[in-house]
Amino acid sequence: MPHDADLPVSRPQTTYVVEHLRTGFIENGAGAGSRLPSIRRLTRELAVGRNTVIEAYEHLVAEGLVHSRPGAGFFVAERARSGQEDTIPVSLADVTSENWRLFEQDDTRLKLGCGWLPDDWREIDDLAHAIRSVTRQSRAGVFDYSPPLGTPALRTLIQQRLRRLGIETHANQILLTGGGSHALDLLVRLLIRPGDTVLVESPGYYNLLGLLRLQRANIIAVPRRADGPDIERLEALLLEHRPSLMFINSVFQNPTGTSLSAPIAHRLLRLAERHDVRIIEDDIYADFQNTPSVRLSELDGLDRVIYVGSFSKSLSCSLRVGFISGQPELIRRLVDVKMLTSISAPHFAEQVLATMLQNGSYRRMMERLRVRLARQMSATLALLRKAGWQIFDAPAGGLFVWTRHPDIESSQRLVAHAATRGIALSPGRVFLPEARDTPWLRINVAYATDARARRFLADPANDRA
Ligand SMILES: Cc1ncc(COP(=O)(O)O)c(C=O)c1O
Repeated sequence: MPHDADLPVSRPQTTYVVEHLRTGFIENGAGAGSRLPSIRRLTRELAVGRNTVIEAYEHLVAEGLVHSRPGAGFFVAERARSGQEDTIPVSLADVTSENWRLFEQDDTRLKLGCGWLPDDWREIDDLAHAIRSVTRQSRAGVFDYSPPLGTPALRTLIQQRLRRLGIETHANQILLTGGGSHALDLLVRLLIRPGDTVLVESPGYYNLLGLLRLQRANIIAVPRRADGPDIERLEALLLEHRPSLMFINSVFQNPTGTSLSAPIAHRLLRLAERHDVRIIEDDIYADFQNTPSVRLSELDGLDRVIYVGSFSKSLSCSLRVGFISGQPELIRRLVDVKMLTSISAPHFAEQVLATMLQNGSYRRMMERLRVRLARQMSATLALLRKAGWQIFDAPAGGLFVWTRHPDIESSQRLVAHAATRGIALSPGRVFLPEARDTPWLRINVAYATDARARRFLADPANDRA
């Protein structure tokens, strides 16, 4: 029988041989050190190909159940019979955010509360083509560290993309990172000392809140409105707390899905200048936007604003490519932090992305994705409205809707109802710096038209459905 902790086996025939060895020899009597049947014997007895047997043995070696002695064969490993006890269970209570359960692969619930696209929305062909082409053309791309700033060709391509958003920068002012999370981590490490006061939007991105807590920053919340941060409140907070740094997610904000308007962007920058505050503009949902709206980085010319981008949401969360653009001196200092903490971002992924940006496949993919997302957003808003949900503000695009059901005061309760119906939600409180329960929660529109989601959204309080 397959075990939860087992590594996945690629082909049915290999699975058959793996299970034959596991149940016939490893778990049923053969002691540690016992010799296992030779490749030739298994090939004959099980009537399978030699490569299948080799693959099955490699699989068991990788699992630690078998070890190989060159020239002598395969043997039952020391830990084989007690292998299951070796896994140390990680309790969910040990991790900071209840939202991280959404990242488990064995979770078969519909991930209506997650922050990424469903697997079956992702397009594999162009990506696979780029992967093959990098593998064929560049051994360095497959094996070496990336240079300290990251792959030069990709930095130039990103520079050109930023220009289309009105953001003028230089390729040497772009530092590649392992996704947006790595970018935020580098900035937080470099720019924040324990006790420093920083402003964040509320509601806002939960992992940023966690990162700031880890750095022991003094977190002050600015309410997020439909067109950006509440400017009157912001002014009062700047006077009262004198923060040095502010974080903002300008476009299709996580979790409200709203975007910064031009008037608010202007007022925000004026205030930042007057109070000498640096701004980190997290724009990782940029490529979900058809017509670019205003960015702080554009208005400010990347002087006091630092720009963060990522390709996780658009292309692949797995590739881990993101970047930071800012003043040369800042980038120089960030390179040090990057080299000290990770040496390199994923070189292979950088080459793959550069290939797709260069040959136009990324652009075409994004065009298709935006059409699909727009359709999904309208369908979700219609569903929610019909069922009486209150919408914070109807987003112009992107992944998220911030919503509440008028009859349910606690999104924790909604999460519990949803769980009984095979649906995973993120409770609103993870997005609030003070982590209090709230009726609001985030819906990911890409999952919202699934039959389970439709039934749940139409009648959320019914936990016996
Ligand atoms: C606003 C925001 N910033 C940064 C990140 C991190 O993205 P990445 O997957 O590129 O690390 C996320 C992911 O959800 C996000 O929503």
